[in-house]
Amino acid sequence: MTDSIRELTILQPDDWHIHLRDGKALSTTVSHAADSFNRVICMPNLVPPVKNIDDARAYRDRIMEHLQNSELSIERKSAFDPRMTLYLTDKTTPKDIKLAAQSGIVQAVKLYPAGATTNSSDGVTDINACVDVFEALEKYNLPLLIHGEVTQDHVDIFDREKRFLDEVLAQIIVKFPTLKIVVEHITTSDAADFVLTQGNHIAATITPQHLMFNRNHLLLGGIKQHFYCLPILKRESHQKVLLDVATSGNPKFFLGTDSAPHATDKKENACGCAGCYSAATALPLYATAFDSVGKIDKLEGFASRFGAQFYGMPVNESTVTLINTPMQVPSAYPYFDGY
Ligand code: DOR
Ligand code: ZN
Repeated sequence: MTDSIRELTILQPDDWHIHLRDGKALSTTVSHAADSFNRVICMPNLVPPVKNIDDARAYRDRIMEHLQNSELSIERKSAFDPRMTLYLTDKTTPKDIKLAAQSGIVQAVKLYPAGATTNSSDGVTDINACVDVFEALEKYNLPLLIHGEVTQDHVDIFDREKRFLDEVLAQIIVKFPTLKIVVEHITTSDAADFVLTQGNHIAATITPQHLMFNRNHLLLGGIKQHFYCLPILKRESHQKVLLDVATSGNPKFFLGTDSAPHATDKKENACGCAGCYSAATALPLYATAFDSVGKIDKLEGFASRFGAQFYGMPVNESTVTLINTPMQVPSAYPYFDGY
């Protein structure tokens, strides 16, 4: 924030893409998420994944139990509304989609190409075989959330997002012209351009790390595992375009942290996991990014209006005030039985 703005009050934000994990992890992740956000879209890549409406109900119940046991205020507890997703597999049926659409708790369905990222081994191996499911999504107006990267071994990691858009997503959009799609955690100017050229039923989320950092932060002067996420950070020119579109006031781009915790020993490892945990600090991170380009006035649209608009939900009524003061981020948080 600029010197003249020391405080900023905006409508309470929502996080349209978060990983809360499960079990004991929920005592940390749920409190952090509910402290800042009202609605959160909970990713389904648990082990085993959230594949059907029964799994989604049970997972939501576990989240709500941790919410009730947390030390959050009554206001925060009653405002928090975890919205669930189903994990698409080769075996997902149109009936699963119908039940999800009618459930009142499932907000969307998540497509992980098998092998693309953390816990994606049960993901879709042949997108062409998903025709029935995509038809059902279109019919019931349930959005498809996409981890947009191709997975063939020979494709360069920095090209995987663009190749997915050109070779896979473009075809899905032609075959299913009214299917609502969110290209999740976009990382390139190619993805921003792609979304901009589509109709209003195609949108994108952007993470704080992709707005604040680029691959130099990850690699220059030694590998910094804590900057490693998927899709991987790209070159600075892409970061700049992401900042441009996020702060443009275009409602196609909205907040989705992709906050993805991992145990310290799995993250700081010779083969470190992909994921940046940002749930506790996401709002200050986004505010810092927007302020860095003099666009703090665009934060409310991105964080609190455009996602709700896309999902056809009302914007929140409560507000949150951000105060521009230095803060110390802890190096780790309690997670399962450790950190
Ligand atoms: O960096 C990532 N971490 N990207 C993903 O797509 C998944 C996530 C996770 O679940 O850890
Ligand atoms: Zn994610």
